[in-house]
Amino acid sequence: SKLWLIVPAAGIGQRMRAECPKQYLRINNRFILDITLSRLLDTGRFTGCMVPLNASDHWWPESDANNDNRIQTCSGGAERADSVLSALHALKEQVAADDWVLVHDAARPCVHPADLANLVSTLAEHPVGGLLAAPVADTLKRADSGGLPEVAETVDRNQLWRALTPQMFRYSMLVSALETALQESQPVTDESSAMEFSGNMPVLVEGRPDNIKITVPADLDLAGFILSRF
Ligand code: C5P
Repeated sequence: SKLWLIVPAAGIGQRMRAECPKQYLRINNRFILDITLSRLLDTGRFTGCMVPLNASDHWWPESDANNDNRIQTCSGGAERADSVLSALHALKEQVAADDWVLVHDAARPCVHPADLANLVSTLAEHPVGGLLAAPVADTLKRADSGGLPEVAETVDRNQLWRALTPQMFRYSMLVSALETALQESQPVTDESSAMEFSGNMPVLVEGRPDNIKITVPADLDLAGFILSRF
């Protein structure tokens, strides 16, 4: 089956407290969004790419991606899941029901092509799909709800993973999983959550832990360092 790429970029990046959404902050004078898109599209694996954008976005025209004929855009939604669903609907005329869709955060510019290759080859014959993920390294505590929180318990980390992206699912299964999860007001912070809610359990494919999501200002320097090494 063909591979399609969706890179949700319609967030406003509140946690960064920057003047612009985080996907438009720069590393080595390039937009994070442009770094992310070129790292994935330059692998030559994708048949097409859809990027949902915020209605109030006025940075996109300045991006390299704006002049890249491999990339299409559509309007995003209130939450990440709405943006992804909007992109899936925008691809409808171009895709087959069992084509693969890979969803990758605009804010993860450090994704490594070797991880993408491993994800695609590991899942190629799988009926559902899955996601890149990294085993948790720190000891994890569950907190009580006090003003100065106290440890309620230590959580066994052996079976815990951090969900990364890309997340890779079949087009029509992902559309119906997202539609159902949103209708039923499920918390959907990634595509996998929606698939899980539909009862189709995704595969965890181990990826590099340095595939970080730019979330706070310090992440920019860290991403610059990671990118300088490969
Ligand atoms: O805010 P968070 O880090 O979870 O955002 C993850 C990705 O989802 C970002 O690339 C962001 O631009 C995107 N997003 C979106 N539409 C929203 C909210 C977030 O496309 N309404």
